[in-house]
Amino acid sequence: MKARVEKALNEQIEKEGQSSQFYLAMASWAEVEGLNGISQFMYKQSDEERFHMLKLVKFVNERGGKAIIPGFETPPAEFESVLNVFELLLSHEIKITESINELVEVCLEEKDYPTHNFIQWYLSEQLEEEASARTILDKVKLIGEDKAGLYLFDRDLENATIQVTPANTVAPGA
Ligand code: FEO
Repeated sequence: MKARVEKALNEQIEKEGQSSQFYLAMASWAEVEGLNGISQFMYKQSDEERFHMLKLVKFVNERGGKAIIPGFETPPAEFESVLNVFELLLSHEIKITESINELVEVCLEEKDYPTHNFIQWYLSEQLEEEASARTILDKVKLIGEDKAGLYLFDRDLENATIQVTPANTVAPGA
């Protein structure tokens, strides 16, 4: 594996791990606030990001590189509001998508087609995660200051009756 690709993949490992910590902090905050549905959703998001990190670690090592396991910054312990949490979720996912796009560029420039192929999975995952974050953020904006609305939203998220991933999300190249 070329050094430049290895470096870019290791940077992505750190970003996925940092995302997992960030969402774990949101899950914990929501749990303390008594928002069990939001908390469960964020714990799941955190697990998914950890899985994204591990998938990269395995790939780098199996392709003859060396994955570097990073330390992480301490994420925030407090969030202003539920709206703030979901705004941060969306803006963070948009940044991760940009980072994956840059990774694609590096693979193409270095003519590393196996890694380019591997990264396609992350591109489609990002499409889904951004769509999910947008759907939820739209709902939270509709609720506004309505406490009863927030209660129902949280309960629906807990019972998974909110469809967070559009069925028509299409993976790139599919
Ligand atoms: Fe794995 Fe949502 O970035």
